[in-house]
Amino acid sequence: MRVNLTVNGVEQTVDDVWEGESLLYALRERLGLPGSKNACEQGECGSCTVYLDGVPVCACLVAAGQAEGREVRTVEGLAPGGGGLDPVQEAFVEAGAVQCGFCTPGLVVQSHDLIERVPDPSDAEIREALAGNLCRCTGYEKILDAVRLAARRKASTT
Ligand code: FES
Ligand code: FES
Repeated sequence: MRVNLTVNGVEQTVDDVWEGESLLYALRERLGLPGSKNACEQGECGSCTVYLDGVPVCACLVAAGQAEGREVRTVEGLAPGGGGLDPVQEAFVEAGAVQCGFCTPGLVVQSHDLIERVPDPSDAEIREALAGNLCRCTGYEKILDAVRLAARRKASTT
């Protein structure tokens, strides 16, 4: 089947999509956007998190066909103007919250959404927002530092 969708502000047409194909597969293998990671393919780890019509979802659990006519925003499309790094991405680097990096794209998208909704999140709110994103490397403390840093930066520029 053919699927028409908008990805990071660009209209895309994907052909030969099979019925069970995930949005994650279409993004990574057909549209050349490997930022969203495939770690579990079962909705357990959050490494594939993307925005679908402005709401974070696990792209491995969304059928590509369900994205017809909808807007997808991936970690590659977070930076303002489409270039460089988004402040959340910068904060993850500066706080040392990236080790192997497999969980990072999903955590960045989820953190980005949290700070958009809750500009000054408490630690409990950060933990709750990121509860579906698993990291096997960092022990999470530096991830919390990164989200706090990103929120402070955002608050100081608005
Ligand atoms: S790859 Fe989608 S939740 Fe793990
Ligand atoms: S940095 Fe390796 S899984 Fe999180």
